[in-house]
Amino acid sequence: MATLLHIDSSVFPTDASASRAVTDAFRRTWQEQHPEGTVIHRDLATNPVPHISAHAHTAGFSDPATHTPEQAAAFAVRVQLIEELERADAVLIGAPMYNLTIPSTLKAWLDNVVLFGRTAGEAQSAKGTPITVIASRGGAYGPGTPREGYEYVQNYLSAILADFLGAEVDFIVPELTMAPINPEMADLVPLFEASRERALEEAATKAKQLAQRLAA
Ligand SMILES: Cc1cc2nc3c(=O)[nH]c(=O)nc-3n(C[C@H](O)[C@H](O)[C@H](O)COP(=O)(O)O)c2cc1C
Repeated sequence: MATLLHIDSSVFPTDASASRAVTDAFRRTWQEQHPEGTVIHRDLATNPVPHISAHAHTAGFSDPATHTPEQAAAFAVRVQLIEELERADAVLIGAPMYNLTIPSTLKAWLDNVVLFGRTAGEAQSAKGTPITVIASRGGAYGPGTPREGYEYVQNYLSAILADFLGAEVDFIVPELTMAPINPEMADLVPLFEASRERALEEAATKAKQLAQRLAA
C-alpha cells in the first residue's frame, strides 16, 4: 500500500487557503484510490518543525557515537523528518508564495531534510520520488508576465527538490488569488477563477495518475 506525505504550509485554514483547497482535493482523490493507503500529514503552520541549529547541522556530518546530548536530540528530529520523506511513495506540498518565496516554515522543513550524504549529493535516498507542489500566489509570475523575474518559489523548489534531492517535481499553480479582494485586480477575477478550476482538476488528475502508477 502506498504512502503519501502531505505537507501544508499556508497560514490560513482550508476554507480560506488557495493551496490547502488544492492539496485537499489531491489528497481526497488519492485516498479514494488508496483507501488502505497511508497519509502522513504535516501541517507546518500549526506544528512548525524547528529551524536548523548548529547542533542539528553538525550532527549531520559526524559519527552519531560522538554526538553530544544536544546534537543527538536535534538530529533525532531531522532523522524523523527524513524517514517520513524516504518512506513516502509520493509527496504533496502546499507552497504558497509569501513575499516572493516559500513560507519560512517550509524552508525550515527543507533545511532539516536536505542532508548531504543521505538525501542529497550522490546518495539521494528519496531519488525519483514524485513530488507535486501546489504553488499558490496572489499575483501571476508566469513566463511573459511583468513579474516573471520575481518568481522565487518554483525556481527555488525546482533546484532543491529536483536537483538536490533528485525528486520528480510537478507544479500546480493557482494564481491571481488576490483578485477577488483587491479592487485593482477586479478585471482579473475571471482569470483567477479559471486558474482555480484548472488547479483543482489538475490535482485530481495527477493524484489519480500517481495512484495508478504506484499500484502498477
Ligand atoms: C505574508 C504574505 C505574503 C504574501 N506575499 C505575496 C507575494 O509576494 N506575491 C504574491 O503574489 N502574493 C503574495 N501573497 C498572497 C498569497 O500568495 C496568496 O494569498 C496565496 O493564495 C497564498 O496561498 P494560501 O491561500 O494557500 O496561503 C502573500 C500573502 C501573505 C499572507
